Amino acid sequence: MHEEEVDMVRQVVVTGAASGIGKALAAILTDRGDRVIGVDLHDVDVVADLSTPEGRAEAVAGVLDRTDGVLAAAVACAGVSLPSTQTVAVNYFGVVDVMEALRPALARAEQPRGAVIASISSTQPFVDEIVEACADHDEARALALSQEQVEQGRGRILYSTSKVALARWMRRTCIAPGWADAGIPLNAVGPGVVRTPMIAELESSPEGIELMNKSVPMPLHGWAEPAAAAHALAYLVSPENTHVTGQLLFVDGGADATTRGETAY
Ligand SMILES: NC(=O)c1ccc[n+]([C@@H]2O[C@H](COP(=O)([O-])OP(=O)(O)OC[C@H]3O[C@@H](n4cnc5c(N)ncnc54)[C@H](O)[C@@H]3O)[C@@H](O)[C@H]2O)c1
Repeated sequence: MHEEEVDMVRQVVVTGAASGIGKALAAILTDRGDRVIGVDLHDVDVVADLSTPEGRAEAVAGVLDRTDGVLAAAVACAGVSLPSTQTVAVNYFGVVDVMEALRPALARAEQPRGAVIASISSTQPFVDEIVEACADHDEARALALSQEQVEQGRGRILYSTSKVALARWMRRTCIAPGWADAGIPLNAVGPGVVRTPMIAELESSPEGIELMNKSVPMPLHGWAEPAAAAHALAYLVSPENTHVTGQLLFVDGGADATTRGETAY
């Protein structure tokens, strides 16, 4: 390879790259010629636990160690769907802390891009107080409030809550100093039901399948494969995306249109 060609390779970070949507995205980006730096709990370049501030700092250091201080794109796919405080720790703080810490490296790139994964769940009921604590970046409070929900047997609401908090972070951050004004689009994809290990437990029982079909009706093609969401992310972080920012793009087979209808606009 000539030196010029080496310079043109985009270095891209994908968290959650060991499985599901993140793994599918890493494959698409690699095929397209990008150099992907994966972050996850196992089987990637940078092994780190995004549920803790220390783990996030290790992730950021590990990524920056593998670059020359310039990142073309950062995509946060790591997430969990557990009835525990982990869900808020990983899905909100594990995303925003890493994205914000990597922003200066993005700002040094020619055509930087950022994206995160929200969910169709961000259109479902959530806990306002936890979303507010997330917006204040008060992790101790957000986790204490989350623990209260767990103790009241309402741990499942933490998933939608984490995704509402994340979608709102994306929406306010995309136009905050250092993002749009530095040429960095920041968007989210909101998948419906995607066949990944995350839904394995629900998929294993007729009740779980019925629950998902009822809460996330997908008249277009039914449940998705990981590549459906990954291709949308790949576009959002491509050089071709010059003007889409602050958007939550549902990749949901019509679930949002079915449940929220035309008055969502
Ligand atoms: N599968 C779905 O139906 C669906 C629907 C909407 C949104 N999503 C979102 O898509 C994203 C990807 O999920 P998926 O379906 O591919 O699931 P997945 O379980 O296949 O992949 C998630 C990855 O995140 C990693 N991860 C989890 N906790 C981590 C931690 N503490 N530190 C580092 N990495 C961690 C896991 O190891 C795994 O590799 C998640 O944010 C999820 O909330 C999924």
